[in-house]
Amino acid sequence: MTLYGIGLGPGAADLLTVRGKRVLESVAVVYSPGRLSRRVAAEYVPESTLSDLEFPMTTDPEKLRTAWSAAADEVAPRARADDAAFVTLGDPCIYSTFGHLRRTLESDHPDVEIEIVPGVSSVTAFASMLGVDIDAGGELALREATDGAAPVGPDRLILFKVTDAPTTHEKLTEAGYDVTFGRRLFMDADETLITDDPDAVADRDYYTLAYAER
Ligand SMILES: C[S@@+](CC[C@H](N)C(=O)[O-])C[C@H]1O[C@@H](n2cnc3c(N)ncnc32)[C@H](O)[C@@H]1O
Repeated sequence: MTLYGIGLGPGAADLLTVRGKRVLESVAVVYSPGRLSRRVAAEYVPESTLSDLEFPMTTDPEKLRTAWSAAADEVAPRARADDAAFVTLGDPCIYSTFGHLRRTLESDHPDVEIEIVPGVSSVTAFASMLGVDIDAGGELALREATDGAAPVGPDRLILFKVTDAPTTHEKLTEAGYDVTFGRRLFMDADETLITDDPDAVADRDYYTLAYAER
């Protein structure tokens, strides 16, 4: 039996891949780490198939390790008995909770078979919405920018977890970047926002990205 890590895409239910849909509909249990991923998965499977896995919103490594270990202990017996899925927004291999779960399963329950079904990442969703070409010769780095952080690097960056847009914006513009923010891309149409104005996304919303170019 197999545990499938399925990428759900950025939020719109019809951006799940055909394979993702087929696998979701075939498994006995679907584990979801959050409300939004649960909402997308619920478009394809009955509520009774869905099971929540709690992960604390903390950076404390000890608390995180304990949570991943508890999740792996819960998932492993189900995935030995039946096919199961763990869903994540975007792609399961890009800044995803699934990566932590996979590593913990590989070390604590190495007999569990794991297969990944890729998804449309918020990275490619953002590039599509902005009409940015990620082309040959261009360098692009992915970074995290929580709490006003502004990591710099090559001439093009996509920053995740932008929770203090004005501070991140100020630091990036000082470093010579032009910055565009994307919030809740391909989620509910009236929630999606693309803007160059940091004040328009000044309130804290976890589902915010920044694209920086210089
Ligand atoms: C833990 S990462 C997960 C990334 C995901 N695995 C992916 O491939 O898109 C969470 C961050 O991704 C970004 N994100 C994910 N989906 C998004 C969306 N639909 N709109 C804007 N940002 C999104 C936000 O920056 C959020 O803080």
